[in-house]
Amino acid sequence: MTSPDTPARYGTVTRFLHWGIALCLAWMFGTAITHVLAEKSALDAFFWPTHKHFGSLLMVLVSVRVIWALLNARQRPPALNPLARLGHLAMYGLMFAIPLIGLLRQFGSGRAFAPLGLPLFAGFDEGEKIGWMVDLGGLLHGELGWALLALVCGHVAMALWHRRSPQYDVMPRMAG
Ligand code: HEM
Ligand code: HEM
Repeated sequence: MTSPDTPARYGTVTRFLHWGIALCLAWMFGTAITHVLAEKSALDAFFWPTHKHFGSLLMVLVSVRVIWALLNARQRPPALNPLARLGHLAMYGLMFAIPLIGLLRQFGSGRAFAPLGLPLFAGFDEGEKIGWMVDLGGLLHGELGWALLALVCGHVAMALWHRRSPQYDVMPRMAG
């Protein structure tokens, strides 16, 4: 049975999306950190080839989450304060923009791309890259990725910090 979102707690679908995407992002950051700290190691050789494929799958999940959040906006628990609200909005924006910019760069590179075996871009002549798409990715994709990681760390720290007081403990809204 699924439960809906209410002003007191998040429902089953929202929780599934929150924790499922958190797991996928943990994988994504695992691949990126390994790539930076241990490039060309056996672990990197295993992790890194999954980055684009998993990231593309995440783009789909995040799109579903954004639509779901908009549909349920009126019946969700209110944010504890304006900063928490801003933080949640920023995480939404980054979760969407990062894979989108990654995919734009992939398209602009002119190379064929089939995430998880599904043909997405056929590719075009290697000599004719779309400069702005490739440059946008080079400029922002990784940087925004690290910014999201920093926000997530702050988010988790605040969620745990608020556990100290029953009045501000928001964990039961999303877990248990
Ligand atoms: C939410 C999903 C994603 C996250 C959180 C993410 C995160 C990151 C991070 C943090 C880096 C920087 C690694 C470094 O500093 O070397 C990176 C690099 C990279 N990502 Fe992603 N990524 C995502 C999705 C994608 C997608 C969908 C693609 C392509 C289809 C992609 C392609 C790349 C490539 C080619 C690099 C290496 C070049 C660079 O540093 O910009 N990523 N990603
Ligand atoms: C990649 C990881 C994560 C991201 C991107 C993320 C993002 C979000 C977002 C956007 C919300 C607002 C509700 C929604 O629309 O879903 C939220 C709520 C929440 N998250 Fe996370 N989250 C992550 C991981 C975690 C973890 C690991 C914890 C536990 C320590 C956690 C605890 C919570 C709690 C308790 C709420 C409810 C907050 C409230 O209603 O004030 N999150 N999260």
